[in-house]
Amino acid sequence: MVMTKVIKIDPSRPSEKLIREAAEVIKRGGLVAFPTETVYGLGADAFNRLAVLKIFKVKGRPPDNPLIIHICRFNQLYELAMEVPDRVISIVKKFWPGPLTVILRKSSRVINEVTASLPTVAIRMPAHPIALKLIEYSSTPIAAPSANLSGRPSPTTPQHVINDLMGLIDVIIDGGETLFGVESTIIDMTHDPPRLLRPGPLTIEEVERVLGGEVVIPPFARGLMESDKALSPGVKYRHYAPKARMVLVELSSYEDLRPLIMKVRELALMYVNEGLRVGILCSDETISHYKDIRALSLSLGPRSNQFIIAKNLFKTLRAFDEEEVDIIVAEGFEERGLGLTIMNRLRKASGYNIVKVDVGNLAICTRRNHIQAQ
Ligand code: TXA
Ligand code: MG
Repeated sequence: MVMTKVIKIDPSRPSEKLIREAAEVIKRGGLVAFPTETVYGLGADAFNRLAVLKIFKVKGRPPDNPLIIHICRFNQLYELAMEVPDRVISIVKKFWPGPLTVILRKSSRVINEVTASLPTVAIRMPAHPIALKLIEYSSTPIAAPSANLSGRPSPTTPQHVINDLMGLIDVIIDGGETLFGVESTIIDMTHDPPRLLRPGPLTIEEVERVLGGEVVIPPFARGLMESDKALSPGVKYRHYAPKARMVLVELSSYEDLRPLIMKVRELALMYVNEGLRVGILCSDETISHYKDIRALSLSLGPRSNQFIIAKNLFKTLRAFDEEEVDIIVAEGFEERGLGLTIMNRLRKASGYNIVKVDVGNLAICTRRNHIQAQ
């Protein structure tokens, strides 16, 4: 057990004195949880082996899952990467500070503890005043995974970090709720064309526009299957998982939501009848259709606003855990724009426990039943 100090800092008027206090902890080899625009990070001096190893120990993170290094100035990129191709410069100039992580070949300065001995390194410049000042005052790049226990949903509020890491780390900076609520978009720039490793708040369409070319989306980046390839070691572990079991209902088309509502109702009622505590993860458009079911229905927001759906995702998964539900029946979302990010997280959170509804067939079935009934 260590004494964890919680320091409250207002992101709109960040106190230099308080951030310097946290930076001193980083300099001394301690661990500091801090807000970014995506999720909370658990930071250590990226050049301090013992401090970096502590991150893995505290989170219970497999040692072969590498960390992202956070920087506050563009020239730190050259310190960490062996080479910075022009196309990388074009996207970081456009999107940094911001929710974009690039994978590059690492320089000899980067320690193996951070990259899990890979020849590449993940780098990002977060768009958050507290994160940027913390890196600056620490006088070193900061290695940081999300500030959750390994396998749990990433923390989007200081309370989530407190729940997971109180008594395990030196400082938690309370900077309020994070803006995006999902982790950064990761693009492997060592491939040509570049490959998406993890969809995030920055959509692939936006990146492609700036690159003037295609970014490859492998199936695992859609959360479609487990991969043990060393491309992004993180993809092989169960992620973002609530304590409850979860089943995800996906439609072949989301134009008409009635088939989704029907399947979610059917599954939820089945689990209720089994005597389980059931949670329904749904949307503003559908929530009223579950009122009569003895389950906890929580909406992620309106389907027309993917930003809100993404922002509420991890928070809502944790809310189900607090209510100690046994099983969550979750609605799927259209996989377009931020929908790719939302579905990646939902598929992984379900442990790939997915029920697919082919809307074409269902429409035919429904029509047949109708005819029979007549
Ligand atoms: O938004 C974010 O990215 C947050 C905040 C704190 O910055 N960080 C975050 O870190 O989500 P983490 O550790 O939870 O996820 C980092 C992912 C892991 O899936 C890891 O496998 C991948 O980045 N990664 C790190 N270095 C890599 C590398 N050299 N090659 C491929 N994937 C890498
Ligand atoms: Mg994580």
